[in-house]
Amino acid sequence: MRVSLGPRRGFHFAGPVPGDKSVTHRAYLLATRAQGETWVRGALRSRDTDATLAVCRALGADVRVEGEDIRIAPPAKLQEPSAPLDCENAGTLIRLAAGYLAGAGLFAVLTGDDSLRARPMRRVVQPLRMLGARIEGRDQGARAPLAVLPAGLAGRIISLPLPSAQVKSAVMLAALDAAGETVLTDLMPTRDHTERMLRQFGARVDSQGDSVRIVGGQQLISPGRLDVPGDISHAAFLLAAAALSERGETRVTGVGLNPGRTGILAVLQRMGARIEVSAGADGGAIEPSGDVLVRQSELVGVEIEAAEVPSLIDELPVIAALALCAEGVTTVRGAGELRVKETDRIAALRQMAKAVGGDFEELPDGFRIQGKRHVQGGLVQSLGDHRIAMAAAVLSLRSREGVEVADAEAAAVSFPRFFDLFEAASA
Ligand code: S3P
Repeated sequence: MRVSLGPRRGFHFAGPVPGDKSVTHRAYLLATRAQGETWVRGALRSRDTDATLAVCRALGADVRVEGEDIRIAPPAKLQEPSAPLDCENAGTLIRLAAGYLAGAGLFAVLTGDDSLRARPMRRVVQPLRMLGARIEGRDQGARAPLAVLPAGLAGRIISLPLPSAQVKSAVMLAALDAAGETVLTDLMPTRDHTERMLRQFGARVDSQGDSVRIVGGQQLISPGRLDVPGDISHAAFLLAAAALSERGETRVTGVGLNPGRTGILAVLQRMGARIEVSAGADGGAIEPSGDVLVRQSELVGVEIEAAEVPSLIDELPVIAALALCAEGVTTVRGAGELRVKETDRIAALRQMAKAVGGDFEELPDGFRIQGKRHVQGGLVQSLGDHRIAMAAAVLSLRSREGVEVADAEAAAVSFPRFFDLFEAASA
């Protein structure tokens, strides 16, 4: 599907955005191995998260859509799946599932689409093997398909110097089935959705400084109901659109404000966007949430260094779009992880920038953009990457000739109605 977005100048959006992808994956997986049913409210329905629901079903969960809720009734014991588990495009699913199944005492094969099967898996296979997991995969465990075999796990101290919430979460989920205690050390700050949600399911998880400690053999007890906040990574595209367009205003309500995810708000602020954040009264919710308002303003380039990257890793495509239309230079360093996302996002962003006439320099671990107030516009390939498709749409608001997005259906990986909503909001 090719979408043409004219050079419109106004953008107006008010309301909630679809549920948080990271939180939804975790909610489904934990509900499937907890005692008692869970109603998940506000869950994201998208290609990635529906793949997780299918995995939960294949493991024996009874999944029903009931109005606004997804009701998950867990099996008495996880069932051995009779076919390979298709994680489609979802890196979070395959990596979390590898840990989740490592000590479950069953045989399972995890696979996915071409993009997922090209992504690195050793980062998760290696620490899981240290707990005693038997996981095999292509290229000695470096790539999917992965085969998980029954194994008895034993807790131990594992150093994890990679800034990845997926890897941290995979080890924590495996640790639940390990004998004794597992301690993850040398953690770099990353989103803590798994820690928060495990606690919500009654598990004891001790986070201290750069380590997390978790004792095996804990039974998860469903809290009954889980509320998923809006996804700040979805909101980012709509907030950026408001900041860029000549008459722009976006007010996103009920969006997740987990401090591990709010780097985009700090960057918008540094770029000079007019932004107001009102944190909601969270009343004991698992995840903090609130409203964010952004109005049009002239933007300036910014510097982003390694320490900030995990809090905005998924927002770097839209930050590149902002930078292309900002005054001055934007430099992003310490973001080599972009090379192993759904696409090599540094190369994909170079293609996007060149296609619209922007000035983009590829760095080994990031990029440098010389912004100008407008871009020319042109045809951008999504390369099957949802966040490249949506970042390209945002650029249309500052383009002279409009932007065409090829393979725009990629957006459905995380935000199925994005283009309808974007077109309705722009005028
Ligand atoms: C995610 C963690 C991040 C992020 C991904 C979702 C998660 O990946 O990019 O979109 O839900 O834990 P890494 O853990 O590979 O950094």
